[in-house]
Amino acid sequence: MPAALPNVIVFDHPLIQHKLTWVRDRDTSSRAFRALTYQMAGLMVFEVTRRFPTCPVEIETPLERTWGVRLHGTITVVPVLRAGLGMAEGVMEMMPEARVGHLGMARDEHTLQPKAYLNKLPRDLDAGPVILVDPMLATGGSAVAALKMLREAGATDLRVMCLVAAPEGIARVHGVEPEVPIYTAAVDRALNERGFIMPGLGDAGDRLYGTVALV
Ligand code: PRP
Repeated sequence: MPAALPNVIVFDHPLIQHKLTWVRDRDTSSRAFRALTYQMAGLMVFEVTRRFPTCPVEIETPLERTWGVRLHGTITVVPVLRAGLGMAEGVMEMMPEARVGHLGMARDEHTLQPKAYLNKLPRDLDAGPVILVDPMLATGGSAVAALKMLREAGATDLRVMCLVAAPEGIARVHGVEPEVPIYTAAVDRALNERGFIMPGLGDAGDRLYGTVALV
């Protein structure tokens, strides 16, 4: 069992680990991969939102008036395209009030450098918590670039949510953003020479959308 990393929250819940194992399996179909990604994101958001602010509200039940709480502030979910879309859907199922900002990022397969091709973010990102979602944190280049774009757009309260993270990616993100929590279902062994997470789950975008069966 590796030592806990600061500001890294690893989900050891059996249901999440069960689903992660199906996600990793090369024989899992694209359809099942999509469903599992969606479900895992929905389960993980339970913990990711644990400290989100709430405000008291008075309501009427069918029987009497009582007090409850509602989430306070505007929550923004930001998927890194393409693969992040699969997770964002699951988060939105749990928090339909949240809004979605999109960042398009493609990693060059030779240089491993991310190239941004889309930036559709709301202007007032400081209006509440922001959740950056992407199934894979590999070299961390995409996440660092995405976090920079979010900071430039005004985000102040950030966290990263992924399915699998490589130690290299965690170190890179926390090298520039040590206060940003990283929520992941697993911290994997390492990156291979092609920048893939090992053992990993392959290429999440390709597996989600059936563009390539396996790496
Ligand atoms: C994958 C993945 C991350 C990124 C991780 O996306 O979904 O966005 O690579 O790698 P990094 O940590 O080394 O930057 P990819 O570029 O393959 O695009 P896709 O989601 O469209 O498949």
